[in-house]
Amino acid sequence: MKMNDGLTVSDPTDPQEAAALLRAGQLCAFPTETVYGLGADATNPDAVLAIYETKGRPRFNPLIIHCADIGMAEALAQFSPLARRLAALWPAPLSLVLPARAGNGLADVATAGLDTVAIRIPDHPLALAVIRAAGRPLAAPSANPSGKLSPTTAEQVRRGFGGEVPVLDGGPCKAGVESTIIAVDGERLVQLRAGAMARSEIEDRLGVAVEQASADAAVAAPGMLKSHYAPGALLRLNTTPRDGEAYLAFGDAPDFSGPTRNLSPSGDLHEAARNLFSMLHDLDATGAPTIAVAPIPATGLGEAINDRLERAAAPR
Ligand code: TXA
Ligand code: MG
Repeated sequence: MKMNDGLTVSDPTDPQEAAALLRAGQLCAFPTETVYGLGADATNPDAVLAIYETKGRPRFNPLIIHCADIGMAEALAQFSPLARRLAALWPAPLSLVLPARAGNGLADVATAGLDTVAIRIPDHPLALAVIRAAGRPLAAPSANPSGKLSPTTAEQVRRGFGGEVPVLDGGPCKAGVESTIIAVDGERLVQLRAGAMARSEIEDRLGVAVEQASADAAVAAPGMLKSHYAPGALLRLNTTPRDGEAYLAFGDAPDFSGPTRNLSPSGDLHEAARNLFSMLHDLDATGAPTIAVAPIPATGLGEAINDRLERAAAPR
């Protein structure tokens, strides 16, 4: 691992070494089941500010706070009975926006000064090990320069930041898209961001309806910029490829002589979500000016996949 500042690390797979960096106020990227996160001690304002600087984030969006267990989470936020039922799904690719607990020790810059906080317990042994060893909650947005594709391998993180950020390496992420964000608003559940846990799965497991956030929810989830997750190439969605383009296929694909990746030849949405960002990375790396993307069904995890594709395709 390359150091930001003095401390040296020998083993890129050792959560203890990553935790030592984080405790010292440095950044360290770490794997989760969704995407790699750019981690910082969420109680250290300078460390959290370094996240924004390193990502080149245009403004201070509130960050997701990663906890190792429910005790750590309950110290940060107030859990209603309904919130507790959702939290029983943890560890999972599910972030809950809850009223912050006064004096919770979180740096204001981590929550952008809001009186709510987004929390999750990630479903990844190395993520849990590094949070536990750090002994404090970790703020972690996706470990990519602002506006670019989210990384699902340690190598993508290293490339994205020109080798400047140490990375705890846990291999490829199994989910491949970010967590689902649910705001618990009294007895209402509102999905602020579609993600790796399908809204329909949450509804089925809890027996409670989850509303989709309305269009003005950009205010509620200020990080949801319209153009986001953007590769260098332009994207054309719900289509078939033309000569000179690259092709991101799904399911049965027509023959195409240009650069092609298939999200899931068998049409499996879990496999497609897992492959989404890395295949976009791959096709972007071919230098093709445009990536044509096949239609993806909007059911289940298809909601999150289509959301990310629309953002990647949005005018910039
Ligand atoms: O899967 C994930 O969630 C990844 C991995 C690393 O865990 N993390 C991630 O974090 O995607 P980030 O910082 O890129 O996304 C944070 C999102 C933003 O859209 C932000 O606006 C929203 O969470 N958010 C955070 N706190 C919030 C709050 N108090 N109210 C509403 N939205 C909030
Ligand atoms: Mg991100």
